[in-house]
Amino acid sequence: MNILIIGHHGMLGSDMLREARSTGHDVTGADVPDIDITSRESIQTCIAAVKPQVIINCAAHTAVDACETDRDRAFAVNAQGAGLLAGCAHESNCVLVHFSTDYVFDGAKQGPYVESDPTNPVSVYGKSKLEGERLVRAGCKRSFIFRIAWLYGARGNNFVKTIRTLAREYALTGKPLRVVNDQFGTPTYTVDVCGQTLRMIGTGYFGLYHCTNEGECSWYDFAVEIVCAAKIPVQMVPCSTTEFPRPAPRPANSVLENSALKKLGLNIMPHWKEAFEEFLREEGKK
Ligand SMILES: NC(=O)c1ccc[n+]([C@@H]2O[C@H](COP(=O)([O-])OP(=O)(O)OC[C@H]3O[C@@H](n4cnc5c(N)ncnc54)[C@H](OP(=O)(O)O)[C@@H]3O)[C@@H](O)[C@H]2O)c1
Repeated sequence: MNILIIGHHGMLGSDMLREARSTGHDVTGADVPDIDITSRESIQTCIAAVKPQVIINCAAHTAVDACETDRDRAFAVNAQGAGLLAGCAHESNCVLVHFSTDYVFDGAKQGPYVESDPTNPVSVYGKSKLEGERLVRAGCKRSFIFRIAWLYGARGNNFVKTIRTLAREYALTGKPLRVVNDQFGTPTYTVDVCGQTLRMIGTGYFGLYHCTNEGECSWYDFAVEIVCAAKIPVQMVPCSTTEFPRPAPRPANSVLENSALKKLGLNIMPHWKEAFEEFLREEGKK
């Protein structure tokens, strides 16, 4: 298939480009400044040049805390930009893949969220992404929306890199590293999201899917795995969210069940611990 990946300099987009190429697709990447999804003209020019059958949108304004004070930019990229892309994809008869987030939920549910659960985002980022979902559905019938969460990979800023950096600093000073232990979710490896996405694009089973690695843990649990794997001699201390106030509130429960993928018998997302081991193996090869 001829695939256009938008946002291919980002954490997910860069792996999507590599994984799609490795599975034999004809793949073109586009990112700012060559494309701006907030401009219809810019999207149309790119589509006219590439003539894709499938557009995978990995572009977004992902700075969750910054979105609280830059609402206009958050909605311009995550909502209106996604909507413009959907309209252009529809006009050009392309399939559109779009990514959303666990932050469309408020985190108050007991147990994992399924696709049909009511949404109630508590941050500007979450609100902008939810509006993006609505506009994608309205603009392009042949679209997939994958809600992903707690993403990490080889590129971009993510929790794995942050914890390694902090742990090394704290190990030198002898101070304990405190990590929140009352927010639960599932660390999700970019490469697994790519594999699941590429598995789905040819199926025609358009719609909304939760797409995270299996299992669940707290940020503290994940940090312990990261520090142990990196053999950093730092003392780890669990703490509460209230000890780490952030500009954007985060849901306490971010656990997503890949319910729709499982109903189709197409869920290939491994357990998060297995995925993290695979990530470490891949890192070790470099
Ligand atoms: N990271 C997570 O933990 C997480 C969790 C749940 C869902 N998601 C979703 O997963 C998707 C991928 O996230 P990610 O973490 O890989 O994102 P990322 O690393 O921030 O990459 C996003 C890319 O989009 C580009 N971009 C921003 N505005 C654009 C515009 N107007 N037009 C074209 N490109 C633009 C960015 O360029 P600049 O860097 O120059 O701005 C960047 O290269 C997003 O939809 C995100 O909402 C992420």
